[in-house]
Amino acid sequence: MGSSLTVEFEALLKRSFGLDAASIGSSAIERAVRQRAQRCGFDDLGLYWQHLQGAPAELQELIEAVVVPETWFLRDRESFAALGQIAIERQRRAGGVLRLLSLPCSTGEEPYSMAITLLEAGVAASQFTIDAVDISSQSLAQARRAEYGRNAFRGGELAFRERYFSAVGDERWRLDDAVRRPVRYRQGNLLDAELLQGEPPYDIVFCRNVLIYFDRATQQRALAALERLLAPEGVLFVGPSETALLLRHEFQSLKLPLAFAFRRASAPAVAAAHVAVARKKAAPPPAPPRRAAPAPRPAPASRPSAPPPPAKPDALAEATRLADSGQLDEAKRLCSEVLRTQPASADAQHLLGLIHDAQGDAARAADCYRKALYLDPKHQEALLHLAFLLEKRGELGAAQRLQQRAGRLQPPRKPRAAS
Ligand SMILES: C[S@@+](CC[C@H](N)C(=O)[O-])C[C@H]1O[C@@H](n2cnc3c(N)ncnc32)[C@H](O)[C@@H]1O
Repeated sequence: MGSSLTVEFEALLKRSFGLDAASIGSSAIERAVRQRAQRCGFDDLGLYWQHLQGAPAELQELIEAVVVPETWFLRDRESFAALGQIAIERQRRAGGVLRLLSLPCSTGEEPYSMAITLLEAGVAASQFTIDAVDISSQSLAQARRAEYGRNAFRGGELAFRERYFSAVGDERWRLDDAVRRPVRYRQGNLLDAELLQGEPPYDIVFCRNVLIYFDRATQQRALAALERLLAPEGVLFVGPSETALLLRHEFQSLKLPLAFAFRRASAPAVAAAHVAVARKKAAPPPAPPRRAAPAPRPAPASRPSAPPPPAKPDALAEATRLADSGQLDEAKRLCSEVLRTQPASADAQHLLGLIHDAQGDAARAADCYRKALYLDPKHQEALLHLAFLLEKRGELGAAQRLQQRAGRLQPPRKPRAAS
């Protein structure tokens, strides 16, 4: 594709729905453009370009060809555990109908996971509504069908599938109506200033794993839109790689370990209640199963030379669970124990960092993240959390370098156009 034409197509996609070509690569965009041009009967991309100018339906087809719909049920389980806790707390405090938004919702796994979480936490279906929005009408059609294959269920804990799905043939499962009912789908663009206009603000917004496809300026616009949609005391969940971005804006972390949950910095003291939820010692609510602690990563060959003692994955999983349910001191003790037997566990160092972070001890947290990175220089979450801490301390250059390192570690994405 001629380079000026490449730039034109990329600019059109950025204008239309924010896609930063660098996030998926120019070659993926080029493949999608060629594929669509061929489908429309154009060998000449210049002619396809002209055709595209007066054909909004074809522009939508091109968007469908480049979006990355990757998602699965209970993705980042700690976010859902936190959602369950926040919902219960909020119901106790304010009552009424809880309004939730999944934007973007892709093929439905995220909003349905929100519904499952609330039902499991004991919130009645009449007590919440979930709006679910995505730019991709193909994804929305799949979401409405609510039928899923293996790929939608990842991780070991799949007991929820038995409770909320029926098997419908070979390796396919259909979601029960009780979970589908509270979710309302609609097509929309996060960058559309009129999106969801007239809707009351939302108590909880999931906007996960889309900001990473935008450049800085577009991220700003998206965050402004999210601020408009979020109730003053609302909670915003983002993806793990998007947390640092939020902290550059007017958002504050709720400090729920691994939940990636934020509120407006200017929100009233209600955040204290959320943090209290994280710290409270009460038994956790009947929330969905939590993610097992990540598998220990092998330390690079040149790092500590002694072979690591036998792994104790259960102890780290338990420490994660404790941190997740707010039992931070216990989680810290267990993490230190894990580190005594597995001094090369980058995941344990990282978790310890998160706990110090949640307790407000930024210096110790940074120290732990650094140790995690010494053990595993490719530990993406440690890179991002350390970047965030440095940024807060005003060490912007160092923070940016860490973010770039983390960005380079993104797993290769597979746009639909990819052959
Ligand atoms: C990687 S998926 C994330 C889905 C889900 N939130 C999750 O974290 O699993 C990204 C989704 O963003 C949607 N998307 C991209 N740009 C959008 C925009 N400007 N407005 C609405 N949806 C958008 C894509 O169609 C795709 O379904």
